[in-house]
Amino acid sequence: MVDAVTGHCGVVELSTETAPGESAYADETDRQRGRFSSRRVFIMAAVGSAVGLGNIWRFPYVAYENGGGAFILPYLVALLTAGLPFLFFDYAIGHRFRGSGPLSFRRLSRKSEFIGWWQVMVCIIIAIYYAAIIAWAAQYTIYSPGKSWGADPESYFFGDFLNATATPEFGFDFVGGLTVPLIIVWLVVLVILAFGVQRGIGATSVVFIPLLLVMFVVLVVQALTLPGAFDGLNALFQPNWSALGDVDVWLAAYSQIFFSLSIGFGIMITYASYVGRHTDMTGSGAVAGMANSSFEVLAGIGVFSALGFMAQAAGNGVDQVASDGIGLAFIGFPAIISQAPAGGLIGVLFFGSLVLAGLTSLVSIVEVVISALRDKLGMSRIKATGLIVVPIAVISTVLFGTTTGLPILDTLDYFVNRFGVLLVAIASIIAVVWLIRATPMLQSHLNRYGSIRLGLWWKALIGFITPVVLLVMLVIDFVTTVDEGYEGYPGWLIGIFGWGMVVGIVAVAAVLAMLPWSPKTSLEPPPPELDEPVESPVGARQETQQ
Ligand code: ALA
Repeated sequence: MVDAVTGHCGVVELSTETAPGESAYADETDRQRGRFSSRRVFIMAAVGSAVGLGNIWRFPYVAYENGGGAFILPYLVALLTAGLPFLFFDYAIGHRFRGSGPLSFRRLSRKSEFIGWWQVMVCIIIAIYYAAIIAWAAQYTIYSPGKSWGADPESYFFGDFLNATATPEFGFDFVGGLTVPLIIVWLVVLVILAFGVQRGIGATSVVFIPLLLVMFVVLVVQALTLPGAFDGLNALFQPNWSALGDVDVWLAAYSQIFFSLSIGFGIMITYASYVGRHTDMTGSGAVAGMANSSFEVLAGIGVFSALGFMAQAAGNGVDQVASDGIGLAFIGFPAIISQAPAGGLIGVLFFGSLVLAGLTSLVSIVEVVISALRDKLGMSRIKATGLIVVPIAVISTVLFGTTTGLPILDTLDYFVNRFGVLLVAIASIIAVVWLIRATPMLQSHLNRYGSIRLGLWWKALIGFITPVVLLVMLVIDFVTTVDEGYEGYPGWLIGIFGWGMVVGIVAVAAVLAMLPWSPKTSLEPPPPELDEPVESPVGARQETQQ
């Protein structure tokens, strides 16, 4: 079946009733693209995207390092002044223009299409390494009951598990323990995404998120009963008020909120485009944001209770055992699991939670790419899913199923988050707010059904505060990285997977933006809602598609 308006041929993902007042256009195009069956499912999917590795292994340490209990203040300020306003901004673009990132930006203005492709490229890079971490966590879930890492989790992880070389180098020897789980992760992602928006993304979120919550609560309760747990909590929540005078602490809060809420890289634009038109988007955003933050605090309690136990067992202070990321998950936790009562259970719950949280985030990241390809080429979901997932999975497996792994993962992660996500977020604000001047239109769109009314405060936050904070973060990170490099990695590694990747994705995005759209895809903005300003934003396209 081919739709004359959007051009999507093939699978009709979901047939939903047209809400009273919704046009035939709305019904037809939404049916072709697929949509979430209800607001509840959308919120679950948004929470599934937001709650990921960033919540479990990043937040606890960021909070601990940046003022402990006092960090709650910059964190809340960042959430309210940038996190939620930017989430609403993403929602408004996707929900009003009802397309993937590139199509929504194209419908907004021909010149801003490039930003959508930049986001797509950022997502491809993140997907390539994010899957590897999920695969490692899956493997460690299986290792947990038998504590396969033995007495020395660190040398097991780098040696027996990763087969990492002493110095970073390309090595294409496949390691079975890495390759097999990675292929399985990609197969799961392929199947979920092939099922489409509701039956794939929506349905898995509805099952995975409550399951994740139950598993994590059991983990936290278990961790709280460990001896030394309260020393850990004390270390985490002890407020260091003087940290509030440190600009780095504030920047850490903003950076945590951005990655954690999945904002600025096209995910929320894509997901919002699958939501019924008469939906309260601002209320939904507030619920998703609060759920994400609550999960972060829960993760902080679980992780630091366990670290408190580890410190006590080793006769050390919590400061000597606290860490984040890979060190926390694959070295710190195995050590805890080996010593704790019911350690195997703690391991299965911890690594299983990482897998569930990671999978729903990975699915959202890859959906950005699939949705863009479908729009650009007028392609069916099944075909687009195969065309996107298979090559990304191959690259991911070649890089991370082999001995090459860790330094490349670390470099991609550092550079794409700073000079990809941050930069494209700033570019989208400059384009949409300052050049196209679309904020009044987006504001009135969200206000039509939104339970939280956006006023001047939103325009000020999105137009001034958020871009200024992002810019300061970017400049500081840029100067530090140029000055100091990253982790002492060799120039060729930083050159290819750091700066080279950052420039490369911009170049590829520029080329993609120049390629023609499928004649089946309408580049016209969908008909405006009745109470939106009649005039188009400056530069919004009026011409018909080429
Ligand atoms: N928001 C996702 C995370 O926190 C990407 O990992």
